[in-house]
Amino acid sequence: MENRKSFYITTPIYYPSDNLHIGHAYTTVAADCMARFKRMQGYDVFYLTGTDEHGQKIERAAREKGMEPIEYIDRIVANIKKLWHTLLISNTDFIRTTEPRQKEVVQKIFNRVYEQGDIVLSEYEGWYCSPCETFFTERQLAEGKCPDCGRDVEMLKEASYFFKMSKYAPRLLEHIENNPEFIQPESRRNEVVNFIKSGLDDLCVSRTTFQWGIPVPFNQSHVVYVWFDALINYLTGVGYLQDDELFAKYWPADVHLMAKDIIRFHAIIWPIMLMALDLPLPKKVMAHGWIMLEGGKMSKSKGNVIDPGILVEKYGVDAIRYYLIKELSFGQDGIYSEEILVSRINSDLANDLGNLISRTVAMIIRYFQGSIPAAGTSTDLDLQLKEAAQLAFREATERLEKLDFSNYLHATSRLVSRANKYIDETAPWQLAKDPSQTERLATVMYNLMETIRIVLILTAPAMPTLMARANQQLGLWEDCTKVTWNDAGIWGVTSSGAQVSRGEALFPRVDIKTLEEGPAGAPVSGETNSAEDAPTNEKTIEPEYITIEDFARLDLRVAEVIACEKMKKADKLLILTLRVGEEERTVVSGIAQHYTPEEMVGKKVVLLANLKPTKLRGVMSHGMILAASDDKYVDVLTVTKDIASGERVK
Ligand code: ME8
Ligand code: MG
Repeated sequence: MENRKSFYITTPIYYPSDNLHIGHAYTTVAADCMARFKRMQGYDVFYLTGTDEHGQKIERAAREKGMEPIEYIDRIVANIKKLWHTLLISNTDFIRTTEPRQKEVVQKIFNRVYEQGDIVLSEYEGWYCSPCETFFTERQLAEGKCPDCGRDVEMLKEASYFFKMSKYAPRLLEHIENNPEFIQPESRRNEVVNFIKSGLDDLCVSRTTFQWGIPVPFNQSHVVYVWFDALINYLTGVGYLQDDELFAKYWPADVHLMAKDIIRFHAIIWPIMLMALDLPLPKKVMAHGWIMLEGGKMSKSKGNVIDPGILVEKYGVDAIRYYLIKELSFGQDGIYSEEILVSRINSDLANDLGNLISRTVAMIIRYFQGSIPAAGTSTDLDLQLKEAAQLAFREATERLEKLDFSNYLHATSRLVSRANKYIDETAPWQLAKDPSQTERLATVMYNLMETIRIVLILTAPAMPTLMARANQQLGLWEDCTKVTWNDAGIWGVTSSGAQVSRGEALFPRVDIKTLEEGPAGAPVSGETNSAEDAPTNEKTIEPEYITIEDFARLDLRVAEVIACEKMKKADKLLILTLRVGEEERTVVSGIAQHYTPEEMVGKKVVLLANLKPTKLRGVMSHGMILAASDDKYVDVLTVTKDIASGERVK
């Protein structure tokens, strides 16, 4: 067996008290992106996720539904596994704390730490918040309530086992100081250091007030504190005390990933448990920010949680993963909204990346019968593109190594934009007109294919299906599963002669008609506005021809006006409801001085369907209808024969 370097990454094990939402999906997708990246680099990766199934909170949630805890949890765990399947999570194992392997390891650890005197029996008295499973001192309460969730707390007194954490505090502080990468980001490290310096209390690690947990091995009236149990999953998952070879291969973990809510458990309690067990500490504990909604936190009680499964159904798995990974800046909170999600899909994926690929394919088909040509001599422009590609490779690699997921995708986006600009700068449609420029045109096409190849490799950890989908059109690889990360670091490996072929759009534009608001700033009928898609950097004296491919970028459709009204307080604008095939959409048009709403209803008009949506007087307009006009008349173009709405105009 070859001896590859190993990489072990974990997510928190989530509470199966209810179905998960996009917050949980964020951590799991980000960790998955990392796992895929490391696999592409040749590492032997172990990616662990799972569920944290004990404790009073779970017990109560089950009883409220009139179920046994395990019966209740089994159902939710099945949903969670299904969700990870939908999101193409490539976890190596899924651990449930109710499994026998976990019980065995937790009990052995509890025994050992007790026998060496780091766990002692004592009496505990304090304010207990049962939803949070946490005891608080009087001083820690917020106006008499739980400082974390704001709910009522109860005074509990029980004989309990205590883990003597304070003894290890100096060693932990020293470790944090000597290993600046251990806790990330820095703001969290400072928080943890200050917390330790303010003095660590011993930790109550057993409960007698309920039964749903792992029994303390030598005193069955106690169950092990749910966090003491849960953290141990990271050891059990890689075979601690059960499979020595597996354990030796993967421990210590390279990354524990989570949000900042549970950083203290992972950066204080967990390392101290490991010190007590004389085990090496994880290399990195990384806490990302919190995904919020515009109205504040997501919470089940507010009924505003976002189901990632539904989003995948609507927008596709690559798009959702891309959005999640890009949206949260390193360590910072971010806001989720469907509007931002859709504009991200339409701008980054449909317009920039999707179009880069479809334009290149179309040009190679048109100019070289679909056969990728060989490159000739390079110019400065070509070298700039190549440098941009190599920079993107270095940046994407560095950012991923740092778990700076958002900037990783910013680096790939920059390369895509650079390539689109290269098309404008080299103007292949001009080169195509001049037979003496064939070699130049070939070089441009080759360089575009090379850039696309690199983009597809770099985005593969984020978007697991894209490379193979694109490859059906591009024919770059015989076997996409064999592509390595470092393939993106070299330029010039695409072989000429391979055939490209036209295929479906990789990222169809999303119609945001169902959303109330959307991005503004696009040209609309009757308004002057800078056209975003106008060629940049081009000052031609000759008439500027466009090719049939350029024309084909306009998605013109037959649309039937099914309703129409005047825009309030705007004498020029009509709000049209159009039927376009199966779909209905709203378009605002500046024709109110020439048509009454009644005149418009029933007309079959020509719609520019893929115009970037824009907001006019608070109403989102999804496209533009065509009209001829002069000083006197405005004449909306209509279809006079019985052609169904949704048909293309070409
Ligand atoms: O804490 N934004 O489980 P949990 C970003 N069982 N991330 C979010 C999020 C949001 N709005 N909401 C949840 C537990 N998360 C324990 C963990 S580990 C030994 C035991 C993610 O179900 C984020 O990773 O409350 C956060 O840390 C985790 O879910 C909390 O999951
Ligand atoms: Mg939580």
